[in-house]
Amino acid sequence: MATNLTAGSLAAPLEGGGIDPTGDRLRVSRVGAVRADAPTFADDVRRGLTASPKVLYPKYFYDELGSRLFEAITALPEYYPTKAEAEILRSYAGEIVSALGGPVWLLELGSGDGQKTRLLIEALLARQGTLEYVPVDISESAVEVSSRALLFSYPTLRITGYIGEYHRALRAIRQERVLPGRTLALFLGSTLGNLGPEERIVLLRDVRGLLDPGEGFLLGVDLKKSEDVLIPAYDDPLGVTAAFNLNLLGRINRELGGEFDLGAFRHRALYNREEGRVEMHLVSRRAQTVAIRDLGIEVPFAEGESIHTENSYKFDLPQITALAAGTGFEVRRTWTDSGGRFASNLLVAV
Ligand code: SAH
Ligand code: AVI
Repeated sequence: MATNLTAGSLAAPLEGGGIDPTGDRLRVSRVGAVRADAPTFADDVRRGLTASPKVLYPKYFYDELGSRLFEAITALPEYYPTKAEAEILRSYAGEIVSALGGPVWLLELGSGDGQKTRLLIEALLARQGTLEYVPVDISESAVEVSSRALLFSYPTLRITGYIGEYHRALRAIRQERVLPGRTLALFLGSTLGNLGPEERIVLLRDVRGLLDPGEGFLLGVDLKKSEDVLIPAYDDPLGVTAAFNLNLLGRINRELGGEFDLGAFRHRALYNREEGRVEMHLVSRRAQTVAIRDLGIEVPFAEGESIHTENSYKFDLPQITALAAGTGFEVRRTWTDSGGRFASNLLVAV
């Protein structure tokens, strides 16, 4: 199920020929499909682009270029969630890690560049001296780049990374790992909001399945707010979010022999008030037919027709309390940033 990739690929000699000091503190595995018939990128693209309305899943944004574009989004002045969550972690990381008994090991879902995680890692290292960190991310480059950077910063950190989807990695972790202490699981950045209501419940139950009563799950969620703040965060004037969205078509071109002309589509972000979510779409600027050679299909688009590429749900605190209660957790504490934009919720397994 899990293929060990290290020390070969990740502990390669450093530029300049030095010995890599991170080598024996790093293991990375790629988690394969649980079921042999699990849909691949090709299957999902075929199904999504022949459906009506057309849809592509946001998990496919994150190839190497997509992960870099997401990092660029987090640096945009308009993209407040990263700044708001970082403010909370800078102010309260000590309190958050003290709210649980220790020592703990840290599991992170959708770890990305791991920048905000540093604040929690530092608080834990100050308390317990050493730490085992287990990042899980579908993006190989995110796990590789962030792991190396973290190991260089923290000499007593050890990392066991998993490249793959949340539930597959959680299953591998359950099956393979001897857990070195109590668990603190993290799901930061409001990535929860990219899941639909039912997927959210499945994910929380999966995480709960790994925890013993009393163990923690820090869940960062973006709070409901005015469209005047939401829309620029998802449709920035520099066009970085547009590039992030359009990269999905670029990825189809690169990996599946797609013939998308990226200039013939435009990025659209809207707030769907009924559903409480920002939606991202790619809208065809004209009537056109696009071939995807490896799939042997030709996809017709009417002028103005869109591909729905992402939902980003926004939450209120009663929703989080209800989600926790329905999945075997209770909310022990919630911290918000000074602008009341974002909430970090410490859930505890009951
Ligand atoms: N936690 C970071 C990154 C958020 S971006 C932050 O707060 O800034 C979302 C991350 O989740 C990306 O790195 C992406 O590659 C990862 N991801 C998205 N869907 C995933 C899935 N189904 N399984 C595992 N990782 C996923
Ligand atoms: C990763 N996720 C929480 C981001 C979000 O805000 O939904 C992805 C993103 N999409 C557009 N901008 C950022």
